[in-house]
Amino acid sequence: MARAQARFACQQCGAVHPKWTGRCDGCGAWNSLIEELPREALPSGLGKGRVDRRGGRALGFVGLTGPSILPPRRQTGIAEFDRVCGGGFVPGSAILVGGDPGIGKSTLLLQAAAAIAPRSGLSSGQTASAAYITGEEAIDQVRLRAERLGVAASSVLLAAASNVRDIIASLDREDAPGLVVIDSIQTMYLDTLDSAPGTVSQVRAAAQELIRVAKRRGFVLVLVGHVTKEGVIAGPRVLEHMVDTVLYFEGERGHQFRILRAVKNRFGATDEIGVFEMSDCGLVEVPNPSALFLAGRPTAGEEVVGENAPEGSSAGQVSGSAVFAGMEGTRPVLVEVQALVAPALLGTPRRAVVGWDGTRLAMITAVLDARCGLSVGANDIYLNIAGGLRIVEPAADLAVAAALVSALRETPVPADTVVFGEIALSGDVRPVGHTEARREPAAAAGLETVAIGHLGELVERLAPRRTPRKQPLDRRRIGVAS
Ligand code: TYD
Ligand code: MG
Repeated sequence: MARAQARFACQQCGAVHPKWTGRCDGCGAWNSLIEELPREALPSGLGKGRVDRRGGRALGFVGLTGPSILPPRRQTGIAEFDRVCGGGFVPGSAILVGGDPGIGKSTLLLQAAAAIAPRSGLSSGQTASAAYITGEEAIDQVRLRAERLGVAASSVLLAAASNVRDIIASLDREDAPGLVVIDSIQTMYLDTLDSAPGTVSQVRAAAQELIRVAKRRGFVLVLVGHVTKEGVIAGPRVLEHMVDTVLYFEGERGHQFRILRAVKNRFGATDEIGVFEMSDCGLVEVPNPSALFLAGRPTAGEEVVGENAPEGSSAGQVSGSAVFAGMEGTRPVLVEVQALVAPALLGTPRRAVVGWDGTRLAMITAVLDARCGLSVGANDIYLNIAGGLRIVEPAADLAVAAALVSALRETPVPADTVVFGEIALSGDVRPVGHTEARREPAAAAGLETVAIGHLGELVERLAPRRTPRKQPLDRRRIGVAS
């Protein structure tokens, strides 16, 4: 049989070329041409209904109102997961879970499948199961993990497969499972395409076929996608457009906590996160993330005594640390900002920033120097967001400034203080969104709120100029070994 004429489409601009070249003539992009085989026959299904002479069918338009039956969401019972999905899985929807290799995607989805498997069997009309199809691991590996997670007894259907044709043959039936996990989409291939698994055309075509079956049979399809070094799901984001929901699983490898973040959701809010902790027996929900991020920090009233008490510490407090009232999704989260300011030994002061934007730090030091008469910028500065969290909110400006001032003046920020606010170049402090929600944890602890209009007020409040060094504001100096 003669092979259909191949054509090469640029993945950047869409230009079609009859031959492969290294560089697209249309947009100049390098290495962006991918082979595409044209469809020989019209898709089946065409030809029914009123067909005009171009072969199209007239659409039956409807109004915006009308009976719409949304089937009830399917909950996993893992509350953090359900929240990120907007209150549970929507039947017939496709969800992409992206993340770095080894972050815990397979673990999370096996737990979710196991959680849903026995429960969905109870609802009337629905089949009893969830299926987990792995293209990456062997059956034994998954079984071992299931045992470790304590879910080996659940009724999850397990299969090791990577041929989409086989998978569809098993799923395209009346009694399809309620949840299907494909781990991962990069290992799946369609035998009708020549390209290797993991290439754009394979990933796109395999996902398209699977999503079509999910919509037809009404099961929830979860696709696992690996993220490339550049931070995009391989197959230049093609998948993100095809699925209903995109979740990213992120976190620092060396830290225990993991965050599941919704970046796109056709059935819910996108600013929701779920926080998990990786433990010996899988991922454990963290309903109160603040406790995790503030772990190890002495609470108000605790005292650091003895030889280990650091210089400048008082009532359990070390200088250079401030608690920021941040927002993760719709939830307030308390995070510790740590700063260390040391005289620069070499000509150019060093800056090392973890979990926060270096440019923003430069801006805040400049504002502190220019508007408050301090000399922070001439020193080496080390800034760290404790717990491995990455903060992108400008609302953390004031907490960073508080940590810097506290470190510079070697004066602890009072232990029961949380700080938030955006700093303008003039030194003015601007209000930020979600003020009420940010205040919530502090208000629950019975703390009062102090409004700060200018950065100078913060400096004055934390470390008044006339206060002798190392003498904390309105606290007795105690606990340092004599
Ligand atoms: P995995 O789910 O395989 O990651 P992904 O599918 O995203 O590549 O998780 C791998 C890591 O999780 C691995 O380094 C071991 C760790 N892990 C635990 O710490 N505890 C556990 O109970 C499990 C199952 C895994
Ligand atoms: Mg995996």
